[in-house]
Amino acid sequence: MKHYPDTNFSAFSFVIKQIITKKLIIDGGRCRGFKILFSPVKIGNMVVPNRFVVPPMGTNLANADGTVSEEAIDYWKARAEGGWGLLIVEVTAIDPLGKAIPYQPGLWDDSFIPGFKKLVDAVHRYGAKIAVQLHHAGRQTSSQIIGKQPVAPSPIPCLVSKEMPRELSTSEVYELVEKFGDAAIRAREAGFDAVEVHGAHGYLIAQFMSPHSNKRVDEFGGSFHNRIRFPVEVMRDIRRKVGGSYPIIFRISANEKVTGGRTVDESRAAARVIESAGADALHVSIGVYGSMQYIVPPADIPPGFILSDAEEIKKAVSVPIIGVGRINDPVLAMDAILSGKADLLAWGRQSLADPDTPNKISAGLIEEISPCIACNQGCIGYIFNPEKMKATCLVNQFCGREGKMKIKPYYILKSDTTFKSLCMLSLTLFACSNTSLACVTTILVLFAMSIVSFAPSTAALATSLIACIIS
Ligand SMILES: Cc1cc2nc3c(=O)[nH]c(=O)nc-3n(C[C@H](O)[C@H](O)[C@H](O)COP(=O)(O)O)c2cc1C
Ligand code: SF4
Repeated sequence: MKHYPDTNFSAFSFVIKQIITKKLIIDGGRCRGFKILFSPVKIGNMVVPNRFVVPPMGTNLANADGTVSEEAIDYWKARAEGGWGLLIVEVTAIDPLGKAIPYQPGLWDDSFIPGFKKLVDAVHRYGAKIAVQLHHAGRQTSSQIIGKQPVAPSPIPCLVSKEMPRELSTSEVYELVEKFGDAAIRAREAGFDAVEVHGAHGYLIAQFMSPHSNKRVDEFGGSFHNRIRFPVEVMRDIRRKVGGSYPIIFRISANEKVTGGRTVDESRAAARVIESAGADALHVSIGVYGSMQYIVPPADIPPGFILSDAEEIKKAVSVPIIGVGRINDPVLAMDAILSGKADLLAWGRQSLADPDTPNKISAGLIEEISPCIACNQGCIGYIFNPEKMKATCLVNQFCGREGKMKIKPYYILKSDTTFKSLCMLSLTLFACSNTSLACVTTILVLFAMSIVSFAPSTAALATSLIACIIS
């Protein structure tokens, strides 16, 4: 049985790869072959400077009360500095009962705005655009995380958490619609360039949309039009509150990959309805918790495996499409754009493995990129592991610790014997020429060198020599 569609790009991308490789040689290492990836694109009234997107990824880096932490700011700053055009901040709860992970950021109250303002300002300094993903987990959480029984469209447990949720009353559903809109106002107030509505991965909005999890008998259940009513009401409420020109992205799972779940055919229809309800872009992902292996695919699922679904959705709408799913190669990304499968590409775990990926591609340093190996250990493996919690990356130990761990230039003489002999020689010379000018110069140069992180002994050696020469 075939679990995923063919990516169908290999022959075309092989030719492109050949051309680019030649071009790189012709250009003496400077990469001008990926021009399309560095061209701007519009989502509503937001101009994204290039096609590189960091998709929302829960990190558990927020403070316990849901406010933004310094660690999170450092994490996002590193990605803005690395050249990504659009950063989408992870699942951000519109209601405390909607949290999916313990250290998830929130936007259910005005008190969250100042922290996000700081984060947005830090990212804007590098010219990147930043959006936030508005989220409610519905049944895909547990009473251990939220302290109460989870809520859902219908009392059907999630295939993973297996906890029986409480069915939301009709009036509670309308209250949640308002909460999405209110959170969007706060996002705009914090300076975010856009919001992304999380309608994918089997969370609350997706639960309403899917016949797999929605068995309601009120106006929010039953027919396709009733099941899509909740996301449509959410989109309209946000649009009414944030105004006509503020960009709204909608994330959708094109295929839920579970028995009785939504397939691409209905997703095409859903995408059209969501577009007419006010979406300025669609972010096409896949899966629900019960098919997690598709949401965060391991190494045996081929790069770009969701792009054919993205193409199907793209044909149904006129707004830009963000593609995702093991995108880890500029040739694949460029091919996806040139062949009309997507307009922007989200490189999820690749942005954890190497936050400087876009800058390296731009500089033609393709071989310098640390690739994500799709091991799923440091990232998704850690955030669902109570003993680890915070996301990091197996190939990038700096991930999530950007403010604490830094690489600084540290020059030291390689040969110990040569180093010792030179030290002795310079100290002797220094002792013979100990004038006051030499002393002052020594102190000043030592101070300057300590700023640029020379090893103290190397600095002492160098300054002794300089002092000798001067005196
Ligand atoms: C650690 C981790 C956390 C994630 N959290 C979110 C999230 O908050 N919201 C969301 O829509 N998708 C989330 N995802 C899915 C990613 O956005 C992305 O769709 C997925 O990783 C596939 O892309 P990739 O193969 O480029 O990593 C998460 C993925 C990972 C690895
Ligand atoms: S931990 Fe593994 S899967 Fe996750 S980002 Fe790093 S290399 Fe990729």
